[in-house]
Amino acid sequence: MTVRLADPARIAAALCHPDLEQALYDEGRVIMQDVLLTLHGEAHRKRRLLEFGVFRRNFFRYYEQGVFMATLDETIAPDLAAGRSELVDLGYRVTMNITADFAGVDRPARSPEETAELRRLVAIFSEGATLIHSTRDKEAVRAEVRAALDAFGPAFLDPSIARRRALLARLAAGEIGEDDLPRDVLTVILRHGDPEEFTPEMIRREIAFYLQAGAHSTANSTIHAFHDLATWAEAHPEDGARMRADPLFLQRCVHESLRLHPASPVSLRRAVCPVALEGAGDLPAGALVALDLAAANRDPSVFGADADRFNPHRAIPAGQMPFGLTFGIGTHSCLGRDLDGGVVPKGPADPANHQLGTITRFIARLLAAGARPDPGDPPRRAEHTERPNWGRYPIVFDPARRWA
Ligand code: HEM
Repeated sequence: MTVRLADPARIAAALCHPDLEQALYDEGRVIMQDVLLTLHGEAHRKRRLLEFGVFRRNFFRYYEQGVFMATLDETIAPDLAAGRSELVDLGYRVTMNITADFAGVDRPARSPEETAELRRLVAIFSEGATLIHSTRDKEAVRAEVRAALDAFGPAFLDPSIARRRALLARLAAGEIGEDDLPRDVLTVILRHGDPEEFTPEMIRREIAFYLQAGAHSTANSTIHAFHDLATWAEAHPEDGARMRADPLFLQRCVHESLRLHPASPVSLRRAVCPVALEGAGDLPAGALVALDLAAANRDPSVFGADADRFNPHRAIPAGQMPFGLTFGIGTHSCLGRDLDGGVVPKGPADPANHQLGTITRFIARLLAAGARPDPGDPPRRAEHTERPNWGRYPIVFDPARRWA
């Protein structure tokens, strides 16, 4: 039996319920088995505690303004020189670097070939993880994921592990200090993880999961945001000018887009024992609960009569996030939320010091370079998934629209 909830408060209660376990990734076990997002109860708590240390706000701030901006400039440079780009590809190339940094996957060559190979593997991992929504032959996708995991080891993961083990040995010998270690999930696992839990296959799945979790959702959200902001600015030139002058307004626009397009439109949970759930009644063990995040984020009783439209001027009710439930809430809430979305300002904030989030920074970079949809090559929706993502989004960099 499956019950569906679409009310924001009821969804929030379900996502915090200790007796509802993750069920969205059963089809994608080939990559998702026993990774952080699919663990339950004590095993999940232990793993989350272990890995959470990598995702602290002070580090995000340093990362966003330093590492990310440098990587963004490096990645986008060839596209700027060409005067055009394709946002799905660019989005993956940029966001893959973010998640590789947090997961702990080295890219020593920094060559176009290396980037292309990692991008290829990450796209396959994403398709495997979201297999439940795939419209392709599922066994064929699983076979591709297995082959990609096999290729990922020697090409990326094994050298990344070897480098970290060597650094940990030097730390133990007193040759280097704590600050000389990379700050990423792989280092934490190798240093503090239980070797019985983290078998070589488990490490490979966990790191592959991280790579795709961040890259896939960030890339899709960035493209939606670009589309929404470009469309709104075209119709409201005064807001287009404000996006340019006021980074906090730009962040507000990005949050509005995140609300409308949650990367994961539904969450799915399974009752591990009989559960009484508000809005769903008494559920037997094994019952599935589908949580319609996309519908909840457009609930007019919360976000107003125009809730299903982009409007960066809407009033956000107290107690609600401007991006709704897009990053989840409760037990499995997104560890990358503040990294991607930045900090939601509580009252006036200093734009020079405010953590805007990598998506806002990415969009600002595109708009500052004069990016607009390519008038001769309209964007197309993705076809291999039921998720409402963009499959191809050509843009041009128009010198006349560049920010000074
Ligand atoms: C716009 C971008 C993103 C969106 C919309 C997003 C959304 C989500 C959502 C909805 C969940 C919860 C899923 C559930 O409850 O079933 C989640 C979990 C998670 N996200 Fe994100 N995410 C984004 C970016 C990232 C990034 C960049 C990272 C890492 C660098 C990341 C790491 C994680 C992890 C590790 C979890 C699992 C947490 C747990 O199970 O305890 N996410 N994300």
